[in-house]
Amino acid sequence: MTGSASEVELTVEELDSRHHDRAGFDCGVDALNRYLKTLAGQHRAKGIATSFVLIDANQPTTILGFYSLSAAALAFDRLSEADRKGLPAYPIPAVRIGRLATSTSSRGQGLGELLLQNAIKRILLARTTLGVYAIVAEAKDAAAESFYSKYGFRLCDTETRQLYLPLGAG
Ligand SMILES: CC(C)(COP(=O)(O)OP(=O)(O)OC[C@H]1O[C@@H](n2cnc3c(N)ncnc32)[C@H](O)[C@@H]1OP(=O)(O)O)[C@@H](O)C(=O)NCCC(=O)NCCS
Repeated sequence: MTGSASEVELTVEELDSRHHDRAGFDCGVDALNRYLKTLAGQHRAKGIATSFVLIDANQPTTILGFYSLSAAALAFDRLSEADRKGLPAYPIPAVRIGRLATSTSSRGQGLGELLLQNAIKRILLARTTLGVYAIVAEAKDAAAESFYSKYGFRLCDTETRQLYLPLGAG
C-alpha cells in the first residue's frame, strides 16, 4: 500500500524482528511499545497474532505505526438486533484488530486511519479464503473507543469496550 504524502513512500508490511527497529518505536503507551518489542515476534511464531508495521520505504527500519490481527469469534448476542437478522445464532466469525498505534512523532497525519484502512483491506482479502463477518476491537480507553467509533465501529460491550464493524456483503 502506498501513501500520497510527497517524498514519502508509505508501506505496510509484516513485522520482521530482524529488520525493523522495534526498540526505537514509541507510541506513548508502554504496554503497546513493549508488546511490539518483546511479544509480537513470539505471537507470530505461535499463531496468536500477526503484526504489521507502517514504514516509509526511504527509512525502511523505522516503524511509524503498527497493528496486529488475530482470528476471533463474536458472541451472537453482542450483535445489534438489526445485525442479527439472517445470521446463524452461534459465535460469529471475526478478525480482531489489536494494538493499533502510531508513533508520537507522527500523530495527526492520517497514519492511524491509513493503518486501519490497510487492516480492512487485508481482512477483506482473507475473506476469499475463510468466513469473516466483522472486525472486532477492544478499545483500551475512551479515546481509542472514539477513534474506532469514528470509522463506524459499533460498541457492543461497555465493560470491555468491545466494538465491531460488520464488513457487509461481498
Ligand atoms: C489512536 C491513534 C492510533 C490515532 O493515530 P493518528 O495517527 O493520530 O490518527 P490519524 O491522524 O489517522 O487520525 C484519524 C482520525 O482519528 C482522530 N483521532 C486521532 N486520535 C484520536 C483519539 N485518541 N481519540 C479520538 N479520535 C482520534 C483524528 O482526529 C482523525 O480524525 P479527523 O480526520 O476527523 O481529525 C494514536 O493516537 C495512538 O497510537 N494512540 C495510542 C495507542 C492507542 O490508543 N491505540 C488505540 C487502539 S488500542
